[in-house]
Amino acid sequence: MGINAYHADASAAIFENGKMIAAIEEERFRRIKHWAGFPTMAIEFCLKEAGINLESVDHIAIGRDPYAKLLKKIFFLLKNPGGGWNAVTDRIRNAKKVSSLEKEFAIDGSSISEKMLKSKIHQVEHHRSHLASAIFASPFEEAAILSIDGSGDFTTTMTATGKGNKLNVLRSVDFPHSLGIFYTAFTQLLGFPHYGDEYKVMGLAPYGEPKYVSQLHELLLFKPNGFFELNLKFFRSAKSGIISYGENHIPEVAALYSDHMIEKFGNVRKKDESLSQYHKDLAASVQRITEELIFHILNHLQKETGLKNICIAGGVAQNSVANGKLTRNTSFKNIYIPSAGHDAGISMGAAMYTYHHLLDGPRAEPIWSAYTGSRFSNGEIENYLKERNIGFQKYSDEELFEKVAQRLVEAGVVGWFTGRSEFGPRALGARSILADPRREDAKDLLNAKIKRRESFRPFAPSILKEFVSEYFEISDEVPFMEKVFPIRPEKYKIIPAVTHVDGTGRLQTVDKNITPRYYELIKAFYNKTNVPILLNTSFNENEPIVNSPAEALECFLRTSMDMLVLENCVIER
Ligand SMILES: [Fe+2]
Repeated sequence: MGINAYHADASAAIFENGKMIAAIEEERFRRIKHWAGFPTMAIEFCLKEAGINLESVDHIAIGRDPYAKLLKKIFFLLKNPGGGWNAVTDRIRNAKKVSSLEKEFAIDGSSISEKMLKSKIHQVEHHRSHLASAIFASPFEEAAILSIDGSGDFTTTMTATGKGNKLNVLRSVDFPHSLGIFYTAFTQLLGFPHYGDEYKVMGLAPYGEPKYVSQLHELLLFKPNGFFELNLKFFRSAKSGIISYGENHIPEVAALYSDHMIEKFGNVRKKDESLSQYHKDLAASVQRITEELIFHILNHLQKETGLKNICIAGGVAQNSVANGKLTRNTSFKNIYIPSAGHDAGISMGAAMYTYHHLLDGPRAEPIWSAYTGSRFSNGEIENYLKERNIGFQKYSDEELFEKVAQRLVEAGVVGWFTGRSEFGPRALGARSILADPRREDAKDLLNAKIKRRESFRPFAPSILKEFVSEYFEISDEVPFMEKVFPIRPEKYKIIPAVTHVDGTGRLQTVDKNITPRYYELIKAFYNKTNVPILLNTSFNENEPIVNSPAEALECFLRTSMDMLVLENCVIER
């Protein structure tokens, strides 16, 4: 079992003989985004899926090594007197928590003794966990690997190679020099203060021109060794903590920009201040230099290793726009990025590092499916709906796909809940809200009926795998919506609702063998419209993605969704 605890996106994952049989974020149960405490509910879920109790788990891997780079941390703190206190106390508190894990498990009513538990626990450093989550889930026998994020265990970037079941760490960049911190600082400056808001800057960037890249080179310094440094004059992170976790376990990011940055790039955009062209150009510039730095790192890594396959993980690996450009801008030919490339994937990676690298377990099948979370049978759903006194119709699969496709064609917005929930931040057709991608007004329709979100943010297309090259200029597997590709210009008019302002789309390739019911639904839509694509957005409304039928129903009742599909049960307005 792997665990990400006391860290944003707490999660658990469980393996049997190297095969991942369940993985889920704690936020899905707690109903608080990015929940960052000890993931007891995710652990209980994993144990239930495996049909075992804690006593029967052979190894517990926790993705954090409180002793990693301890000397370096102390030295850093001595060099930054007066500041850093929050960072230190947070870190010490977290380190203590991690080393008293036994007590956390005991609280959960387990009869396991502390001594027995202690013998099972392995602590795996943050970036080694990220690296392992990418390479050991990938289809590659051998690959270069990059882990890149804000910061974890005092490291922000780590390169490695992986071969068979072993990892070989090459080099790393330490806190406070961090591409994640750079991106987050500008995310804040652009008026998006919450943990995980970076994707908004990515969505905004295509509305601007990258006019300020050369100014940004003054604070993000590319090094000839293939790495980088921050010009610390522009950042506050050197003097205080980056992320803190309150009593409610919600991650909060401190302001990362310094007064000097405000002098050079202007004031923080206020809450109700509209986005100006300057903001858009700045977003475009931040996105552009981030891409350039990723290419810089990867091209060096490629030369250093001579390998053609690359695996990437860490928060920055969530930059799907950069990911979509990698094969065109680096010498790598094949890419793998796990569905939970962000910190939720630490649970999966810590377990894989332990199983493969430490215990010499053989590699399992590559992971192309993110559907490792909660599941509910038709029987459970029917019972629940009857209990709630909600009227519904039950259909056979064939009738269902036909009925839902028809509703979508008629401008319906459909809540689609089927199979096991997704591990990772993207809804991939198990907990999704769907609409017709051909409609010019689909965005307004969705925003009016469900999500009152920023108008500049794009909606994503799910496309039958066989049709990718017909609609996109690049053809590749994108099972986790981890890449943005250019859409063929002649298709802009056909699928305007999922074509971003720059003519791109963050696609999900839908494979019949991996997600057969979603595939059949899109196919039923294709049979009616000749378009093998659906607009897919996550099933939620300013909350974590729905996990259970109850949450799906509540979301349906709260919003103006037209149809709710819970497995084969359909509720209509
Ligand atoms: Fe991370």
